Amino acid sequence: MADSLASPVIVLHVCEGICLRYPLAEPCATSGYLRAESRNCTDPSCCKDGVMYPQFRCSPPVTANTPARMIISSFAAGGDGGGAAECDGNFYTDDQMVVSMSTGWYDGGGRCHSNITIDANGRSVSAMVVDECDSVNGCVPDENFQPPCANNVIVASPLVWRALAIPDAVGDYNVTWSDA
Ligand SMILES: *[C@@H]1O[C@H](CO)[C@@H](O)[C@H](O)[C@H]1NC(C)=O
Ligand SMILES: *[C@@H]1O[C@H](CO)[C@@H](O)[C@H](O)[C@H]1NC(C)=O
Ligand SMILES: *[C@@H]1O[C@H](CO)[C@@H](O)[C@H](O)[C@H]1NC(C)=O
Repeated sequence: MADSLASPVIVLHVCEGICLRYPLAEPCATSGYLRAESRNCTDPSCCKDGVMYPQFRCSPPVTANTPARMIISSFAAGGDGGGAAECDGNFYTDDQMVVSMSTGWYDGGGRCHSNITIDANGRSVSAMVVDECDSVNGCVPDENFQPPCANNVIVASPLVWRALAIPDAVGDYNVTWSDA
């Protein structure tokens, strides 16, 4: 899975509380930092010892065309997605149309088992939300030792990528999405 760190973030400790109360009024800023511990993970995408990873408790406002960064991952047992899906504790095969979303969009499970529509590459597909891409916690086995997710991420299964006709190898693609 690609490094899920956002591009350089503006350090503003204004998000916590404010974003949750006024989700449409403010863009989502960093709410804190997670200091990574060494887990002897050799994959370059894993957390690095001592690095401070930004955390986000909210995501950008949802519109009819919300921009997002789509990342590829398996949701299968033993795949590269880490633990079972947060919504239901299940794994999903690479031939199912499933996604996880950054913490703010995951909405405490509020979108679990709802479909979202993803538009990219001139196509539009529907996929079911089954998991959270945790924007607060990370660098643990359940998150496959990945840093906390950025606040604008949709992690999509291989079939979603195929349905959008975007090669798996691209791995990271700008999309827009809406509630289906
Ligand atoms: C990491 O590797 C070092 C040296 O091989 C070892 O001493 C240490 O216990 C390992 N730490 C973890 C968390 O596995
Ligand atoms: C969600 O989308 C899947 C296919 O992507 C479809 O099979 C399913 O019926 C949809 N569910 C709802 C509730 O619309
Ligand atoms: C994807 O979107 C980001 C802004 O969210 C932008 O900085 C980046 O250049 C875009 N990448 C591509 C390949 O269009």
